[in-house]
Amino acid sequence: MNTCFLVLDYHVLNGRAEQTALIYDSPVTGKKKSYTYKQLTNEVARTAGMLAEMGVVKGDRVIIYMPMIPEAVMAMLACARLGAVHSVVFGGFAANELAIRIEDAEPKVIMAASCGIEVKKIIPYLPMVNKAIKDSRWKPEKVVVYQREECPAELNSNPGVDGRDVDWSQQLAKSNPHDCVPVDACDPLYVLYTSGTTGKPKGVVREHGGHAVAMKYSMSVIYNAKPGEVYWAASDVGWVVGHSYIVYAPLIHGCTTILYEGKPVRTPDPAAFWRVCQEHDVNILFSAPTAFRAIKKEDPEGELIKQYPMPALRTIFMAGERLDPPTLQWVEEKTKRPVVDHWWQTETGWAISGNPLGLEEFPLKPGSSTMPTPGFDVQVLDETGSPVAANEQGFIVIQLPLPPGCLATVWRNHDRFQSGYLTQFPGYYVSGDGGYIDEDGYLFVMGRIDDVINVAGHRLSTGEMEEILGGHNDVAECAVIGAHDALKGQIPYGFVVLKDGHYSVDGNIEKELLQKVREEIGAVASFRNVMIVNRLPKTRSGKVLRR
Ligand code: COA
Ligand code: AMP
Repeated sequence: MNTCFLVLDYHVLNGRAEQTALIYDSPVTGKKKSYTYKQLTNEVARTAGMLAEMGVVKGDRVIIYMPMIPEAVMAMLACARLGAVHSVVFGGFAANELAIRIEDAEPKVIMAASCGIEVKKIIPYLPMVNKAIKDSRWKPEKVVVYQREECPAELNSNPGVDGRDVDWSQQLAKSNPHDCVPVDACDPLYVLYTSGTTGKPKGVVREHGGHAVAMKYSMSVIYNAKPGEVYWAASDVGWVVGHSYIVYAPLIHGCTTILYEGKPVRTPDPAAFWRVCQEHDVNILFSAPTAFRAIKKEDPEGELIKQYPMPALRTIFMAGERLDPPTLQWVEEKTKRPVVDHWWQTETGWAISGNPLGLEEFPLKPGSSTMPTPGFDVQVLDETGSPVAANEQGFIVIQLPLPPGCLATVWRNHDRFQSGYLTQFPGYYVSGDGGYIDEDGYLFVMGRIDDVINVAGHRLSTGEMEEILGGHNDVAECAVIGAHDALKGQIPYGFVVLKDGHYSVDGNIEKELLQKVREEIGAVASFRNVMIVNRLPKTRSGKVLRR
């Protein structure tokens, strides 16, 4: 099989050649562009040819560090076409995070853009790529740079990198299209890094076969989407939602997908989502609750929503964090559309629970992501591993085996896969989330019960932030916790005990600590609060009591 064949060539051969496959809508650059299935297939085949000419073959890894532009999707699909393993790194991560991933994935090639655009701010990517490669023990052979006119990068500018950097467009112009390379169903399609409880992110490995099955199945069963419809996941290709529901699932299903380079607000206003839904006849919209909270904050009465009737829009799906009932009610009331909460993780790649609209629609209960999806045997256990009674909270687990599409292992670290997910309760996958199932079988996911937090729909590790703070010369010990935030759901909050007699150079240690996390993880950590304290609360055995 080949996933890229299912996503593109299959449709060209079966009557969708002239249907729009991808719509790029970028309020930050003022650009819009559409690709039919045939055009996208041609672009991807040539991008695959370009990679093949650089020596990329089946099984090689390719890191993709790009903003929300069509070339990012083409890069992912070109890797799939060659049987190469892509690893997309979210553009909001700083050089250090990129370095960690380069070292673990050992990519032959990095595909990058010259810059990202955050509302009006230009973020040059190449300096971060250069620093990451410098800091990493693994050195990729080539860096292919897509030059954006907003901020072209100077290639091969770093000492010692002569010839390493390649101009994407120039190289592509010389490349021949490449056909799909057959792979086994159990060959890896991609590795996507996600935050765990320790500093080092985990490389979730997704295999071709099960993933393709899950993507196709979920489009009809969970989203009730019909081939030919327009599906928009307002997320980022750097996250699992972007992998599954911007790229793979809508295209495998023969839908039109939307790649939106903008925010729910400020690009230019809180009507951005409604404008896109109206203009592109979106049938199904999927985003994170935090995006709707941002819209609600700026347009509390939903006045702007009234200006966009959105006749095609049928259902709004949400995931990425707990959907709080006030946000659910506001969106339902103002858009007059059903809102479906569904729960999932990078590890599973698709929804563990939701309202299976394509099978049987259940009445909604606010605060619940409805029922386990067919294939997931979801249970709630207590600390000893015994099932709890209805309505009682505990560890949410999935009885093995996991259904198709879920992670096969952690990249080159099967022990971490076993110890991180499978050993606490033998026979079960531990999700890391806590919650309960009520007497009608509805699942309520209440939040993480480990050191992972969810900031504006972005999954982050407090353990990693603690390691960074602890690395400061003046810090004796520290704790980072997730505090409730009305917009972002949670924000990290750091408490730091200083070493006796140690003072930072300019006496402004709080600023230094905030900057350190921003530099090492990235702005996306939203680490803006740190407090110097005399002591941390501890258990008798000396463990910090974060809760
Ligand atoms: N590249 C570079 N920087 C990025 C970035 C990216 N792709 N994404 C975010 N950042 C930066 C932001 O510019 C901001 O930087 P600043 O501290 O200099 O202002 C910082 O990271 C924090 O970003 P964010 O948490 O996104 O806050 P925000 O105020 O910019 O936007 C929301 C708030 C709610 C509008 C925004 O978080 C959002 O749209 N969230 C939805 C998330 C989502 O889709 N998640 C996917 C799961 S479905
Ligand atoms: P990620 O791996 O980045 O997709 O983040 C997964 C985590 O986000 C889960 O473990 C949950 O903590 C949280 N999450 C995702 N969707 C939901 C949801 N619908 N309800 C509650 N929490 C969610």
